[in-house]
Amino acid sequence: MAVSEDGRSGGQGWVVLVADDEPAVCGLCREVAESLGLSVLEAPSTEEALDKLDRERVDLVLADLRMPSAGGMALLERVKQAHPQVEVILMTGYGSVETAVEAIKRGARDYLAKPFHVDDLKAKLQHALKELELTQENRILREQARGQPGFGGLIGTSPKMQRLYKLILKVSQSRHPVLILGESGTGKELVARSVHFLGPLKEKPFVPVDCAGLVPTLIESELFGYVKGAFTGALRTKTGLMEMAHGGTLFLDEIAELSPDLQGKLLRALQEKEIKPVGGTERISVDVRVVAATNRDLDPAMREGRFRKDLYYRLNVVTLKLPPLRERKSDIPLLVHHFLERFSDAARPVSGISEEALARLMSYDWPGNVRELENVIERALALGAGSVVHTVDLPSNLQVPPAAPAPGTTPREGILPLRELEKRAIQQAVEELGGDKLLAARLLGIGKTTLYRKLKEYELET
Ligand SMILES: Nc1ncnc2c1ncn2[C@@H]1O[C@H](COP(=O)(O)OP(=O)(O)OP(=O)(O)O)[C@@H](O)[C@H]1O
Ligand SMILES: [Mg+2]
Repeated sequence: MAVSEDGRSGGQGWVVLVADDEPAVCGLCREVAESLGLSVLEAPSTEEALDKLDRERVDLVLADLRMPSAGGMALLERVKQAHPQVEVILMTGYGSVETAVEAIKRGARDYLAKPFHVDDLKAKLQHALKELELTQENRILREQARGQPGFGGLIGTSPKMQRLYKLILKVSQSRHPVLILGESGTGKELVARSVHFLGPLKEKPFVPVDCAGLVPTLIESELFGYVKGAFTGALRTKTGLMEMAHGGTLFLDEIAELSPDLQGKLLRALQEKEIKPVGGTERISVDVRVVAATNRDLDPAMREGRFRKDLYYRLNVVTLKLPPLRERKSDIPLLVHHFLERFSDAARPVSGISEEALARLMSYDWPGNVRELENVIERALALGAGSVVHTVDLPSNLQVPPAAPAPGTTPREGILPLRELEKRAIQQAVEELGGDKLLAARLLGIGKTTLYRKLKEYELET
């Protein structure tokens, strides 16, 4: 399946199944579909079409209403039952309006009256493609906004995060090496996962290697594996992490911590697509996509000879730079809402955070980024009493008010219920997206109608 560099624009990567018993019609459909960049499968009967649907990936079916034995309507019904996500366009006889209406009622996306003009077919296919693209984008964005593992659980609607999502989506469709840079706790691992799980290798293994966590002497045998008897304690042959990642993604976390000697061995393995297990004589061919991450600045490391330039160039085909939390503070209310919900349970239901506590979180610099914020919320829930997070539940360095309160005023904390947090998150998102409510709804993980309802409910500008 062809997948273009820039995602699927122009029909790239989508598969259409043409079900028609007339070879001439099939040929014409193929020609038009291929001119739009679609991959084409053909089936001369409903049975064969169903068989192909079960065995291959199909996004769109273009089916003739009249075929020997069961016709297009039966095919439509079976498709909608077994593969509801597959779109169907029925080709009907000229003038059979009732059948066309019936087809739409039963779930067809569209219909095309035969004989048709090439331009008609092209327009209908283009329309269906747009829908498919939107559905896919929606699914991805919804997953991501909900914090589902599919998109690595990244949260945030700030312009910097939006730019990042776009880049992730783009690089995920290729097999180029990716280097992820960012301070500690900015979400490098989440990004690495999304690059893998959004891309064509998603069914293949994703194997993380913690280059900082492994004992240096063990890294080589962990990475490349070893054979029985290679060293004391090597009682049996062990497959290395790199071989386990074969066909999928190898995530080299904290790559700067790798010793220069191992950097050289890794580079060779990547270039030659071969590894030699420790103590072994045979070479094993291994093909992986590499995603590497570091929170270090690699420039001085290269100048001082601690990091090999050739490996750097090998890994750094595409760079993803993650913004520190202090540069996207507008995402804090959304993240707080997310973590409050995550750590809330029946024994400890959480209803909100005080306005003052949120103000402290907003004015703090977050050297530990999202991980630090996550820990602060978890700790506040573990140590605090009641269902609301107050300033006193925050770590002491966060309790210092940004400015001294005016003399004579008794500080009284207003409570921000989760609803209020939600309101702010929505307001923030709509504002930051320049009023684009459709995108705001997507990034917030809610439907468009829900967003409109909430905008009204919270009396926010529409
Ligand atoms: N944008 C985000 N949305 C939601 N959660 C996030 C986000 N970024 C980070 N996190 C959470 O913060 C924690 C740290 O993220 P992660 O481990 O990916 O960071 P990292 O950049 O790899 O950090 P380190 O360099 O310290 O390894 C994780 O629990 C992760 O779920
Ligand atoms: Mg990490």
